[in-house]
Amino acid sequence: MGRLDRPIQPARLPAGLKVWIGGSSPPMEDYHSPKPPHLLARTNRNGRANRMAAIKPLIAGNWKMNGTTAALAELASMEAGYDQAMRVRLNMLVCVPATLVSAAATVALNSGVTIGAQDCHAKPSGAHTGDISAEMLADAGASAIIVGHSERRTDHGETDEQVRAKAEAALRAHLKPIVCIGETEAQRKSGETLAVLKRQLAGSLPESAAIVVAYEPVWAIGTGLTPTLADIAEAHAFIRAELAARFGEAGSAIPILYGGSVKPANAAEILAVADVNGALVGGASLKATDFLGICQAA
Ligand code: PGA
Repeated sequence: MGRLDRPIQPARLPAGLKVWIGGSSPPMEDYHSPKPPHLLARTNRNGRANRMAAIKPLIAGNWKMNGTTAALAELASMEAGYDQAMRVRLNMLVCVPATLVSAAATVALNSGVTIGAQDCHAKPSGAHTGDISAEMLADAGASAIIVGHSERRTDHGETDEQVRAKAEAALRAHLKPIVCIGETEAQRKSGETLAVLKRQLAGSLPESAAIVVAYEPVWAIGTGLTPTLADIAEAHAFIRAELAARFGEAGSAIPILYGGSVKPANAAEILAVADVNGALVGGASLKATDFLGICQAA
């Protein structure tokens, strides 16, 4: 059984022990599956084997500013549905509000589900009233942190430089940063999509390839709208090429998630697109039946 099947949450470690069992590398680093045959058989439009087929899909929920302790019952239902067959096929992560990280990590104990957070301060500690550091989230039991979500970029004016600093902070705390990028509707309409993605990748990514990238078109988030499969394929192929150019071989192993109005009804076709290595799910991650429906499609 792999490390991700039995994640060691910091909450389970003796007080003061900050290392992750299994080495000093960040948790959730191993997104590589034992290469299930049905995925290896997948070919791209040129008939060549999809070189990213070996990346184990990651289905990540983003609860945003939703959920009190009552919502932990949904988390428990998600865990109950994350059976052995699903564990082999995909990694399940639920990014809860900071207030729930500790309790969620306890609920997730031994379930194989990992718990993430949604933002962090770039510094490890200090005079920053109301902020929460990556180290604090790690201590509470998080394994990953979403950084640079478009709602943070819009609501809080976060720049690529700040997003990058937060991604570096997550790595410093041995957490997996999920770095979000994506174009606005106006940018897509004016044909700037790839230029925007290029700029955000250049500015927001840390030096390390121990990351996850989430492509989330801003206009698709929470709207029920999704890009065409061809548009998703184009964006993901572009991001893959940029990652490979920047990180070499390691760039080919970085999971690229699609996010924006993913639901059970469209998950299968989106997740089948080349270089889509999973999904970042907002609204449909709040209910176990919806979230598990997406997982079943992966
Ligand atoms: P949505 O949100 O699935 O509700 O569109 C996705 C996200 O913002 O991560």
